[in-house]
Amino acid sequence: MKTGILQSILLVSLIVATSVHGIADDNANEVFARRILPLAKADKPSSCTECHAAGVNLSQYIRDDASATFVALRSAGLVNSEQPEKSKLLELIARAPDKGDPLLAKIRAEELEAFRTWISAAAKDAQIAGAPASSAPIGPTLPPEVIRHARRDRVLASFIENIWIERERCAGCHSPDKNQRVVKEHGDQISWIVSNDAAGTLAKIINHGLINLDDPNKSKILQKPLGEVEHGGHVKFTRGTRTDKQFRRFLDDYVATLTGKYHTAAELPQQPDLVVVATAQHLRVVELPRAYAEKLMRIDLHRWTDDGWTSTPVASVDGRGNPKNAMFQGVVFATLPRTMDIAKEVETRRQLPGGRYLAKFYVDQGDRTAKNRDYEFGESDLVGQVEFDGPWPAGYSPPKIIKSPEVASGRQ
Ligand code: HEC
Ligand code: HEC
Repeated sequence: MKTGILQSILLVSLIVATSVHGIADDNANEVFARRILPLAKADKPSSCTECHAAGVNLSQYIRDDASATFVALRSAGLVNSEQPEKSKLLELIARAPDKGDPLLAKIRAEELEAFRTWISAAAKDAQIAGAPASSAPIGPTLPPEVIRHARRDRVLASFIENIWIERERCAGCHSPDKNQRVVKEHGDQISWIVSNDAAGTLAKIINHGLINLDDPNKSKILQKPLGEVEHGGHVKFTRGTRTDKQFRRFLDDYVATLTGKYHTAAELPQQPDLVVVATAQHLRVVELPRAYAEKLMRIDLHRWTDDGWTSTPVASVDGRGNPKNAMFQGVVFATLPRTMDIAKEVETRRQLPGGRYLAKFYVDQGDRTAKNRDYEFGESDLVGQVEFDGPWPAGYSPPKIIKSPEVASGRQ
């Protein structure tokens, strides 16, 4: 009895050993089942995710069986039956970033090895390689514009121009180079900024669960600074401000991208032609009438040039004033055409030259932003304008100080 069991164990091990050897070498169907199919499992992260936040995945290149997969890949020009090593699919998988994640590098090496082994085996298998060409599509089904939009470099660019530009407002309490005191009280979790690293910061925001994939408007990264949920740093900006719109522009788009909401190029959000970046300068408005100080306002700055005032504002400031001291103060954001290298401009901290400016005051006297936080100021909100001149040093002590226009008659 005992010897019988031992014998069968030995026999089984012998069979396993020979078949493992056989599989690794030549049985394309077995290699497919053992090494390729598991790569198609939904919960398996593929190396593609290192550069594509959504839209493409290795599983899109795998069918239910070896023949169907091989034929479709070959018909799509992705495998080369004559020289399997030169298959395009292998090039696609081998693509790696300069400084990649070691874990994904390991996954990539495994994927590459599995496909290399399987493609060579399948190319030698008369039944698989001899099958007629097929028109069955393989690969991602989304249009290229949607795939492009979901690339991580594009997601990061949107994060930079919509949220990273505001980091200075949060850094004092959330950046590890500045928040030692706050960390003592609230713990390391509070450090969701990685100093001088936009990509690292975005990764932290995601890992800390600060984005709500079910409802982007309920994301902590938005609701905390709005004061819609309790926030140790109180209200940092209000609904309807440029900052609110920009945070939501990023969050809405990020969530739509990650949850596969975009199917056609037409559904993708339009990119604004103008982008804003923080300057090193501050503007203070004094003698602000209560009727303005209590409302959301925006001040657009036009600069004097040889051709007169610039038609589009060169910079703007927005937010709420303080009725108690009749003042408004804010960081000035320069308006730049998208054609510039925005990521670089964000780091440069440009400075507006001194000289002549025209400040146009827009005030939400009808509280339209309260009803619709996406409301954009128009000519009917323009309450007045003020010219100023002279040098404009960086920093807030002192800021550039100008007087408010008088309350326009007939409004209030
Ligand atoms: C190192 C970054 C990187 C990795 C990893 C990567 N890709 Fe890409 N992929 C890109 C870039 C960048 C483009 C844009 C076009 C180009 O440069 O070729 C792109 C374009 C594509 C496109 C064409 C869409 C278009 O823009 O026309 C497809 C399909 C694609 N990748 C699939 C994959 C698959 C599948 C994987 C994983 C096996 C993968 N990629 C891994 C960076 C990467
Ligand atoms: C004056 C300090 C201060 C400033 C400035 C500040 N915060 Fe906070 N923030 C806190 C404190 C304290 C907490 C921890 C208590 C809490 O959760 O409210 C916190 C928590 C958070 C959290 C939750 C973090 C987590 O992992 O639970 C988010 C998100 C956040 N803040 C976003 C912001 C944003 C965005 C800004 C800038 C626009 C900002 N905060 C500016 C003090 C600040």
